[in-house]
Amino acid sequence: MKTPLCHQLGCELPIFAFSHCRDVIVEVTKAGGFGVLGASTFSPEQLELELKWIDDHVNGKPYGVDVLIPTAYDKSAEQSPDDLARMIPQTHRDFMENILSNANIPSLPEEDRQRIHKEIVDGRGNMTPDGARRLLQVALTHSQVKLVVSALGSPPPDVVADLKARGVMVGAMCGKGEHAKRHQAAGVELIVAQGTEAGGHTGDVATMVLVPQVVQAVGSGVAVLAAGGIAKGSQIVASLALGAQGVWCGTLWLATRESELDPFERSVLLAAKTEDAVRRKARTGKHVRMLKSEMSEAWEKDDAPDYLPTPLQGILYNEAHARVVKAKRKELYSFPAGQVVGMLNEETTVKQVMVQLQEEYLETMDRLHQLSAMNGEDES
Ligand SMILES: Cc1cc2nc3c(=O)[nH]c(=O)nc-3n(C[C@H](O)[C@H](O)[C@H](O)COP(=O)(O)O)c2cc1C
Repeated sequence: MKTPLCHQLGCELPIFAFSHCRDVIVEVTKAGGFGVLGASTFSPEQLELELKWIDDHVNGKPYGVDVLIPTAYDKSAEQSPDDLARMIPQTHRDFMENILSNANIPSLPEEDRQRIHKEIVDGRGNMTPDGARRLLQVALTHSQVKLVVSALGSPPPDVVADLKARGVMVGAMCGKGEHAKRHQAAGVELIVAQGTEAGGHTGDVATMVLVPQVVQAVGSGVAVLAAGGIAKGSQIVASLALGAQGVWCGTLWLATRESELDPFERSVLLAAKTEDAVRRKARTGKHVRMLKSEMSEAWEKDDAPDYLPTPLQGILYNEAHARVVKAKRKELYSFPAGQVVGMLNEETTVKQVMVQLQEEYLETMDRLHQLSAMNGEDES
């Protein structure tokens, strides 16, 4: 399954793993794939620790970093952490508190609350162009970082120039065919065509439709990865058939023992069906595909206040989410997950997933060869 992109980036398999968890990045990369660490929720100091740990465990192999560089964003994200927290209206705080107290979800001990609040607010502060630049400064001191992917928009010209000068490939996420040309004009060398099936922030075009559109729009000069709805080797074959040079998966790794989810969270994920992964704005103020719960649905009701702009909705939501996780209340638990969640039924390891993907890929190719041979016999 090796494609030209593997040669360019120095990996064995065109299986890219997006994760916020360093263990997943290391295991995927050691197994021949290419791990990309979602960096936007880390402070620069914490990111330095994460990347140092990856460097120490990845046996000299290359890996990537993903940052949110929004082209359009709410200026409130540039406020200091305390100001940001103060900007959440009392009506919204009361609405969230009602959901939690009606369900008897206890408050967190004050020390935990403050620590979690700080982590969340610091993370939201990275979701501006300047915040992303601070993270990139850290990432670029790590020579094994060979790919930087920008989520939410084309990377600005100074970032593209800096990355290219250091020999780091520039990537960007894309949810619409027409955005691909814009990325290409900005100097992007790798486009992740992410369909609506995906977990996380997502548009409304399906992967099956989006990938060939993006491939056609950019021609052969830019590599395209298919993302959204990929959890099987057969789906890798399909992605390559659509013109992609590989796949980019996110939800798949959440079910592994190495992921950032604790056993309670993983059990909710493993029990979820495809239809439970819905697009809602409750988590960040923008559409995120995530597990449906009483919490996500409460925000959809007529009596709910309007969603706050990013990053305020995210601060409010994540603090409440921490309480739900601590209380282990699955009916209120919503975490970003794509439609493939319905295909993940048992806990596994990253290594097992990587082996299984390759076996399924070979089985699918065999099936296609047999089909092709059968048709060849028919014709002769
Ligand atoms: C829990 C979770 C968090 C995500 N966070 C980000 C993010 O911070 N940046 C980003 O570019 N993509 C993010 N994504 C989207 C992934 O990069 C990827 O495109 C998506 O998961 C692919 O679809 P799949 O979930 O069907 O595999 C996230 C996905 C998940 C499941």
